Amino acid sequence: MNILAIESSCDETAAAVVADGRRIISSVVLSQIDIHKKYGGVVPEIASRAHTEAVSGLVSDALEQAGATFADIEAVAATAQPGLIGALLVGMNFGKALAYSAGKPFIPVNHIRGHIAASYLAFPSLEPPFLALVLSGGHTSMIKVADYTRFEVIGHTRDDAAGEAFDKVARVMGMPYPGGKEMDSAASLGTPGKYSFPSPAVKDSPFEFSFSGLKTAVINRLNNDAQRKIPIQVPDIARSFTDSVVSALVSRSENAFRYTGCGTLVLCGGVSANSHIRSAFASLAQRKGLRLCVPPVSLCGDNAAMIGAQAYYEFLAGNVGSISSNASADAEI
Ligand code: KG4
Ligand code: ZN
Repeated sequence: MNILAIESSCDETAAAVVADGRRIISSVVLSQIDIHKKYGGVVPEIASRAHTEAVSGLVSDALEQAGATFADIEAVAATAQPGLIGALLVGMNFGKALAYSAGKPFIPVNHIRGHIAASYLAFPSLEPPFLALVLSGGHTSMIKVADYTRFEVIGHTRDDAAGEAFDKVARVMGMPYPGGKEMDSAASLGTPGKYSFPSPAVKDSPFEFSFSGLKTAVINRLNNDAQRKIPIQVPDIARSFTDSVVSALVSRSENAFRYTGCGTLVLCGGVSANSHIRSAFASLAQRKGLRLCVPPVSLCGDNAAMIGAQAYYEFLAGNVGSISSNASADAEI
């Protein structure tokens, strides 16, 4: 089954054609990062306008790269939630109009479910149940994927998402938005243990995170050092910050493994591109004899192929939209 999928929940407009939830026929992503960079973060109204300008061309590109016409497409999917409401509405309404004008089914897809489904594209033999650690710019959750469309949230962040913490600390250190990738490179050059920062693992709550305390501690340290004219050691700060994040993610995952008895962990979302997180989880998997599935970096950030993958399983489960399907800014999985 060929599904044409559209993603427009934040600052990437993307379109893809995916076969049977597992095979990418084509995938195009247009990032708006250069547009938002000068504001230090995503400006929602500007994002919506940029999606509006890009969506039609990207859908044509995805079909062309697939060597397909709309007649070869059996259903249209779009991200419906969560995300920036104006941005979501662009992809959703475009997808709905396309589907219903041609009498094809429309499938609304949850963005977080999409991030998890990126792993189906990268690991053909992967099937639920498994544990998923979703690390994105807006979400940080430990989820038991009981089935393709059945999820149990085991724990999540009480405040900021992991990506948000990376981006905010990066911003204070003068890195361009979004700073996660630069923090990753800076941390590789830093010496471990030069700074002591609080853990984002919530005490006495085995599956929960809180990134705001860590973020504030780093920012306070930067401000104090600046006031006292102590030179800021960007790589060392990036390293200590990252190590603190990594050890909390690993310890919470170990707890979740014990609790669920799952033998497989999927790491997904934009922050799972982080090289330090990837190597710490590779060691954990080896140490504990677990199966670790981390999609390639190209499928970690926002893309439409992951939406097309999840859409297939939503379709099989009967979760098809209607002409009155609407977008929603905040929704759990
Ligand atoms: O999943 P995503 O593309 O968008 C959302 O759904 O939010 O995640 C974007 C987040 C940003 O915060 C970005 O800084 C972060 O992923 N990110 C990284 C890395 N690459 C992207 N964070 C840490 N290390 C990276 N290498
Ligand atoms: Zn995302």
